[in-house]
Amino acid sequence: MAKLKLQDIDTNEYPHINRGLEGIIAFSTTKSSIDGQKGELIYAGYNIDTLAENATFEEVCFLLWNDRLPNKQELDALKKKLIEERKVPDPVLDYIKNTNKDAEPMAVLRSATSMLADFAPEETGDSNQDYQNQAIAMTAQMPTIVAAFDRVRNGKEIVAPLKEGSTAFNFLYMLNGEKPGTQAENTMDLCLILHAEHGMNASTFTCRTICSTESDIYSAVTGAIGALKGPLHGGANTAVMNMLLNMDKQGEQADPVAFTKKKLANREKIMGFGHRVYKTFDPRAYHLRQKSKALSEETGHETLYEWSEAILETMKSEKNIDPNVDFFSATVYYSIGIKPDLYTCIFTMSRVSGWTAHYLEQAANNRLIRPRALYTGEKNLDWVPIDKR
Ligand code: CMC
Repeated sequence: MAKLKLQDIDTNEYPHINRGLEGIIAFSTTKSSIDGQKGELIYAGYNIDTLAENATFEEVCFLLWNDRLPNKQELDALKKKLIEERKVPDPVLDYIKNTNKDAEPMAVLRSATSMLADFAPEETGDSNQDYQNQAIAMTAQMPTIVAAFDRVRNGKEIVAPLKEGSTAFNFLYMLNGEKPGTQAENTMDLCLILHAEHGMNASTFTCRTICSTESDIYSAVTGAIGALKGPLHGGANTAVMNMLLNMDKQGEQADPVAFTKKKLANREKIMGFGHRVYKTFDPRAYHLRQKSKALSEETGHETLYEWSEAILETMKSEKNIDPNVDFFSATVYYSIGIKPDLYTCIFTMSRVSGWTAHYLEQAANNRLIRPRALYTGEKNLDWVPIDKR
């Protein structure tokens, strides 16, 4: 039989192929809702704008794991547990100390997260409770891993986690070796809130697929980190910052409008723009744009912000494409002194809450995820002995 070409497929005989699973509804979920036309994002009933203005990251974690906001007692209990779980087991720290200092931080975070499975919280016999405990442990330990690797690769002593303070505060403390100010803490907390959950994106789908085989939550999160790392997904924020820093190297010659037009003319993508679901401004980008403007002015990085706005205007006028979450988050992180190659790790430190919420949801009502592929190769070929090939 001749090789089947996609364009020759008789759609009456074969089912339609949705490349990239575009538009396919694979699950029902109570975790989040995205309206791509309106530019609306909801986490378990609450609009992202409401959460950005009022919530803390810890409250968002509780919301995603339980589908409701915690009362004061419940929030205090969660914060206490998150603090208790911050320490990373010594063998994982040994790995961080001994791995290649030039390794990508996301690769180190992926491998270290995988190792955490060997030191998971003691099982209770109630699988739902165990998944929750494991979700809390991973959410607490990821910032410790990221900060530890950054210090080790810069020849600095690892800073042990604090026994107090928010996830955002403790992360910045472990990273820099000094307690952050309120502005930096609030900025980090906002970023963690905005990145926590986002529907059936590639990494969440990966997490649910692994869960559907009844594999463990650490495997599911490790796989999800691998998916998030790519530049078409979470890796875009690092790429955005590198683009702006390369422009900065050109000094007076830098021309963001000409740069953007040239890229588009070459049919190249500008990172931090476009989205599979949003066909308008990503609501998370509104908050980050405001933050980026305010922080850039305060820290003397106005030029980076102005270039971002010039790129945004050019993308809008040339292609009618809006920015996504990764565009302004880059300059926000830069303004609070975080190195570009850590940006996707911060995305991970936040998204682990959404992934684990989806794991809990999938496990509670599981069905193996097993789609089909249309075979377009040949069939019934004659076997040719190796010396005749
Ligand atoms: N720069 C230039 N053109 C773009 C961009 C971009 N960033 N994004 C989309 N387009 C164009 C694309 O070239 C195509 O044009 P044409 O119809 O003329 O061929 C059209 O828009 C449709 O693009 P697509 O790639 O088919 O759309 P998609 O739904 O497959 O892609 C995307 C979504 C996010 C992969 C894509 O917009 C992209 O690659 N963006 C850059 C990477 C990025 O910022 N990723 C972060 C996504 S949001 C955070 C997250 O969830 O991880």
